[in-house]
Amino acid sequence: MSAMSDICPIVLPQEIACAEVNAPPCGIVVFGASGDLVRRKLLGSVFELFRRGLLSENFYIVGCGRSSFSDEQYRTDVGNAVSESVGDVPPELLRSFTDKIYYIVGDYEQESFYKSIAVRLTKLNKVHNVGGSRIFYMAVPPLLYGTIVKGLDLAGLSCPGLPGCERIRIVVEKPFGADLKSANELNNIIQKHFTERQIYRIDHYLGKETVQNILMFRFANTIFEPVWNRNFIDHIQITIAESDGVEHRGGYYDRAGALRDMFQNHILGMLAFVAMEPPVSFDADSVRDEKVKLLQCIRPLTGQSINTDFIRGQYVAGEVEGQKVCGYRKESKVDASSTTETYVAARLFVDNWRWQDVPFYLRTGKRLARKNTEIAITFKKVPHSMLVSAGLGDLPANTLVMQIQPEEGISLSFQAKRPGSKVCIGTLRMRFSYAEVFGGEPPEAYQRLLLDCMLGDQTLFTRQDDVEVSWGLLDPVLRAWANKPLMLYEYKAGSESFPQADRLIESEGRTWRHLREI
Ligand code: BG6
Repeated sequence: MSAMSDICPIVLPQEIACAEVNAPPCGIVVFGASGDLVRRKLLGSVFELFRRGLLSENFYIVGCGRSSFSDEQYRTDVGNAVSESVGDVPPELLRSFTDKIYYIVGDYEQESFYKSIAVRLTKLNKVHNVGGSRIFYMAVPPLLYGTIVKGLDLAGLSCPGLPGCERIRIVVEKPFGADLKSANELNNIIQKHFTERQIYRIDHYLGKETVQNILMFRFANTIFEPVWNRNFIDHIQITIAESDGVEHRGGYYDRAGALRDMFQNHILGMLAFVAMEPPVSFDADSVRDEKVKLLQCIRPLTGQSINTDFIRGQYVAGEVEGQKVCGYRKESKVDASSTTETYVAARLFVDNWRWQDVPFYLRTGKRLARKNTEIAITFKKVPHSMLVSAGLGDLPANTLVMQIQPEEGISLSFQAKRPGSKVCIGTLRMRFSYAEVFGGEPPEAYQRLLLDCMLGDQTLFTRQDDVEVSWGLLDPVLRAWANKPLMLYEYKAGSESFPQADRLIESEGRTWRHLREI
């Protein structure tokens, strides 16, 4: 059998149907305006929407925070942040963007802060003619959410239940709670002042083009859906591997760990998109109804299944992509005896007609050999090989891989005759590469999500019941791990995996795919 080789994609660009809708007039008020997320992701994304002509002429941004800036100083800071995140920008273009940016300094605990925001917004609404539409973006630690929503309400800025209140929205960043109880408390606090229709809980993975493509791929084609079930699929692997460590977020991460940081949201979100039933339409509630229904079907986790099906690890010093790196416990702001997991591997089952007994192997970790996010669907092997007599009894199974990042694309491997002797077969791969077909990398997920929020489209935002179901599923794992903090394995930074995580899948005669396996 020879090595796998590629079949070139055939591109039919004239058949690509796109309907991007421009944002209506809108003001964006960002709390935590000088924070890392805003500087690294948000400002660059709003700027790109502006550059692509997708924002209305009538928009403005108000940064709010404790750091003291004048409007002009904040504009300079925004200009720098935009250039750092999107590269060089013509100065006139940048200036026409930053001209619409303002800053208000204040103390989150003081009512006067929200009053001054209200006064300023009334003026800016008129100057920029946005008709009262606004988004409050919470780029602050969750502890402040309650204080801020209360302050906004007291200043008459949230207007729940009043006519037109849906045009006033609040965007809430993850982590959305640390377990079921705290997530419910957070929901209760926010819902006192905003209705569910006004709340946009961000899971940035759902804004990734390639994650949205899971739905298009599944439900805009007829050929995959008939085989998308337990009769044809042997198992599914979902991997989010990162080569980065915890960077400068040790303080947050050490309280969270991989289960809360990546699994409860990004991994379960992708699992739901891969496994859910076809929504009746592509509107927010139809898609989110199916997503929640799927999460509700995940087999509940018990003491026994947690022991055998959830493996956690923590990296020790090693080498990643040629660089020596320290172990997790030596990272800045991490407890020197921390038992926080930086890796989770798990096996879940979805108890419904479509997926009964099909294992979903899921893993995510930091400081692994390389960055790779993918979903691999491995089909069942042929029931009988006609090539047994030629020593080819065990033919590899077809695998469909959705490569989420990097090298975004989709590939399907299959067996085919190779030139040469009569019995000569090899694995070929049919591959669609996002970069080759569409040129360049997909846009930053925040662009999609911000635009959708301005448009009032909640499809890619997490609904309250989704948050509850996913935390409800994982609460027993959090409890079990809290009771047995030492049930934690070491892995060397830069490795692909470690023996205990391997056993989870190998004990069933399967193997993890190599990270970025071709
Ligand atoms: C965030 C996590 O939600 O996602 C980070 O908090 C993680 O820990 C990041 O690094 C990964 O996002 P991406 O888009 O780089 O895969």
